[in-house]
Amino acid sequence: PRPVILDGDPGHDDAINILLALASPELQVLGITTVFGNVGLERTTRNALITRELIGADVPIFAGADRPLVVPRISAEAVHGKSGMDGPELPTPTRGAEAMHAAHFIIEQVRARPGEVTLVPTGPLTNLALAFRLAPDIVPLLREVVWMGGSTDTGNWTPAAEFNALADPHAAHVVFTSGVPLTMFGLNVTHQAIAHPARVAAFRALGTRVGEFAAVLLEFFAEHHRERYGWEGGALHDPMTVAWLLRPDLFVSRPMHVTLDLTAGPSVGRTVADVWDVTGQPKNVRVATAVDADGFFALLVERLGRYS
Ligand code: BDR
Ligand code: CA
Repeated sequence: PRPVILDGDPGHDDAINILLALASPELQVLGITTVFGNVGLERTTRNALITRELIGADVPIFAGADRPLVVPRISAEAVHGKSGMDGPELPTPTRGAEAMHAAHFIIEQVRARPGEVTLVPTGPLTNLALAFRLAPDIVPLLREVVWMGGSTDTGNWTPAAEFNALADPHAAHVVFTSGVPLTMFGLNVTHQAIAHPARVAAFRALGTRVGEFAAVLLEFFAEHHRERYGWEGGALHDPMTVAWLLRPDLFVSRPMHVTLDLTAGPSVGRTVADVWDVTGQPKNVRVATAVDADGFFALLVERLGRYS
């Protein structure tokens, strides 16, 4: 199996990504690292712990950055609720996170497995940026980074910027300019996979605790998307990262030159993607542009259905 580290800010869609990865024998999840984002670090870590206990998994969890590198912290309670994972009942976790900082865990694992580890961030890129700055030697030792964030077109937190990019644009800049093989699942592709009621029903029809948990998460997640966009459900952003590792055939992608807008102003945090190669600059990012949404949801339901 392929060794991966899941780094995120659970988060409804981050939690479903964790469930997808841990159900998949093609992957060896070395650890889960958490970062501030949708809500504060304490809550995102707690939500990761709760998700792990839901399925009785043994994977270690490491808390990381509690704030961005430079800009003030933002959060997304409006989308994910006060807990960051509102909807299902959230029990008090019985086991805590490990003592090591997420960035140190990433460094340790990458050094131990040169050329093998894939990082799968689904939140602000702060933990990766910290690791890359603390230990630049790990950058060429990584197999790749597969991130949910950014967009080739419009944003969702400002007209120009997607949440994960805006939450720490400088960290994203560090990763985008590092030279690491990077695949980006931005809003331009995640908005193609809406968890509308028939898709939610397929999770519920599993008739399991995990199926019900996913369905309730998606129902809560739908509320914001209904109000803001007039859609029938939420865009299931984060699980596209792990889905890509399992089934790249479900996606279309293309290498592009992408830069982060760091200038203070209305476009800060924008991932400026050279879709038509007008600059001729080196293509530093593989950008996902299309998804087979039915195939994506079928994969999710099949994998989450593996939990009894
Ligand atoms: C991203 O922001 C978060 O709210 C989601 O978990 C996802 O990672 C979408 O912009
Ligand atoms: Ca997320």
